Order: sequence, then C-alpha cells, then structure tokens
Amino acid sequence: MLAHSRGGSAQRDAVDLNSLVSEAVDLAYHGLRAQDASFNITLEYDLESDLPPLKVVPQDLSRVFLNIANNGCYAAHHRMLKEGAGYRPVLRTTTRQTPDVVQKIFNPFFTTKPAGQRTGLGLSLSYQIVTDQHKGSIKVNSQEGEFTEFVITLPK
Ligand SMILES: Nc1ncnc2c1ncn2[C@@H]1O[C@H](COP(=O)(O)OP(=O)(O)O)[C@@H](O)[C@H]1O
Ligand SMILES: [Mg+2]
Repeated sequence: MLAHSRGGSAQRDAVDLNSLVSEAVDLAYHGLRAQDASFNITLEYDLESDLPPLKVVPQDLSRVFLNIANNGCYAAHHRMLKEGAGYRPVLRTTTRQTPDVVQKIFNPFFTTKPAGQRTGLGLSLSYQIVTDQHKGSIKVNSQEGEFTEFVITLPK
C-alpha cells in the first residue's frame, strides 16, 4: 500500500534479510507479550547462514513479516486461551536461498534436459494456462537434493 502510494519508487536498500525478518518476529512476539504476559510461544529460527544482501524496501517488507508473525502469534494466543497451558505453540522462521534454476523454470525454452529431447515449454505454457487463462496461481517450492513441490490454485 505504501509503495503503491509512492508510485512504487520507494528507496531500496541492500539489507540482511535474516535480521529484517527476525526483528519483525521479535516485535510481534513482544507486542503480544505486552498485551498478555501469560502468552508464550517458542520462537525457532532456521536461517540460511550466507544470504547475500537483498535490495528491498526495508520498511515495507518489515510490515509484511510483522503482519504474518502477528497473525501467527494472535492465532496461537487464541488457541492457548481455549486449550490452556498444555498448548505449546512454536513460531518457526526459515530463510532459504533458492537455486538459480528455480527462478527460471517458468521461462519459455528453459530446460536442463538434453538438447533435442525437450522443449522447455511445458512449465511456461502451464504458467499461462493457470494464471492468464484460469486466473489461478502456480508456485514452486524446492530444496536441492530434497524435494520439489508445485502448488496450483484455481478459483472456484
Ligand atoms: N520436479 C522437478 N524436479 C527438478 N527439476 C524440475 C522439476 N520440474 C521441472 N524442473 C525443471 O524445470 C525445467 C523446465 O520444465 P519444462 O518447462 O516442463 O520443460 P522440459 O520438461 O521440456 O525441460 C526442467 O528442464 C527442469 O530443469
Ligand atoms: Mg516438461
């Protein structure tokens, strides 16, 4: 909203994403603690150790992380009020660097398969069919050597 109101020209700075995200989580946690001292949640961090600095609009991106962490703390707090102290919520924050290949797989003609065998058009066509034609979304999550997950959502 803020970036929109500034016409998207907000100042980008090279920042350490791990700091930005953990400061936001910390703020959300302390915000809820200030409202209810009995509230407790275990904060877990699984942060990529050598993230390169990212050029982002820090104030705006902080709001994204803060909102998501606030929502999580709020939901956990609500459930704790219902279930009592036996409920032990965990808020886990993970950062990962995705391999370059993951960013390219929806590009037309991108393929890592042997020349002549594949066109590299499968995912770019799929992207168009799902997003443009059906107004849905297609996302990929992948951890090298571990798994690849495609999530396709379609409107009702
Ligand atoms: N499940 C997967 N695991 C690993 N890589 C994948 C997976 N799905 C897609 N890719 C990568 O995305 C590229 C593009 O896929 P696609 O657009 O279907 O073209 P093609 O199958 O012709 O290579 C593949 O060449 C591969 O590098
Ligand atoms: Mg294919």
